[in-house]
Amino acid sequence: MSGVIKTGSTGLSFRLRNLTEADFDQVIDLQKRVYPDIPAFRGDHLQQHMRHFPQGQFVVDEGDRIIGTASSLVVLWDDYGLNHTWKSVTGEGTFSTHNMQGRTLYGAEVCVDPSIRKSGIGHLIYQARRRLCREMNLKRIIAAGRLPGYHNYANQMSAELYAQKVVWGDIYDPVLRFQIGEGFQYCGVIDGYLPTDADSLGNAALIVWLNPRYNPNKPTLTPPDIRSFR
Ligand SMILES: CC(C)(COP(=O)(O)OP(=O)(O)OC[C@H]1O[C@@H](n2cnc3c(N)ncnc32)[C@H](O)[C@@H]1OP(=O)(O)O)[C@@H](O)C(=O)NCCC(=O)NCCS
Repeated sequence: MSGVIKTGSTGLSFRLRNLTEADFDQVIDLQKRVYPDIPAFRGDHLQQHMRHFPQGQFVVDEGDRIIGTASSLVVLWDDYGLNHTWKSVTGEGTFSTHNMQGRTLYGAEVCVDPSIRKSGIGHLIYQARRRLCREMNLKRIIAAGRLPGYHNYANQMSAELYAQKVVWGDIYDPVLRFQIGEGFQYCGVIDGYLPTDADSLGNAALIVWLNPRYNPNKPTLTPPDIRSFR
């Protein structure tokens, strides 16, 4: 099932739904365009994501065109903590680390077509992640967000100070600013999270959103299919 949303100011019509195999080529193409220096997921990776946790894999389409993509898994957060890397938490991109005993929805990837950003697509994806977290009775969403503007400041300050300045509003970073706007708390910088990310110089900001409806006395629930996101 799918949900359709229209943005107010841009008039675009797009919908969020779960990933299917027919989307693979466009998802990989989008990731290659967004991250020319970072290896994109391969088809066999996406296949494994769908096998482990199909409800956590989202795409946003506008007609036949994929304009956004996001992948998530459930992890045992105590196994990772501040010093984890993208490779360790995602099982080198395979999501073999997905574990339904976990209480943490981990955001492994999100990207939106550069030609259509700031139209609310990222917000739609984050809404869908929060809804999934609530519906599964998970405690929280954790992610490590890139700091793509950091390379412009690296000769002036540490990545930690850069992130702090983004939090207190003196520097604009399109990823961390967006994530804070989505209600995430900043928890510190991870050095060497994704070494191939040249813009962030390998750094990432650890962020968390706590599910206000989490009930520790209830188990993790089977993920529902995508429903309407408005
Ligand atoms: C981070 C990312 C996913 C956000 O996607 P997006 O679709 O641009 O997100 P949104 O449109 O919901 O919000 C982005 C900004 O546009 C603003 N916006 C949303 N709709 C708007 C509209 N109709 N008119 C004006 N502004 C709007 C939002 O308020 C937000 O502002 P902020 O940056 O000050 O917080 C996108 O920038 C991206 O793909 N970046 C590259 C990949 C990447 O680094 N991903 C993160 C991996 S950790």
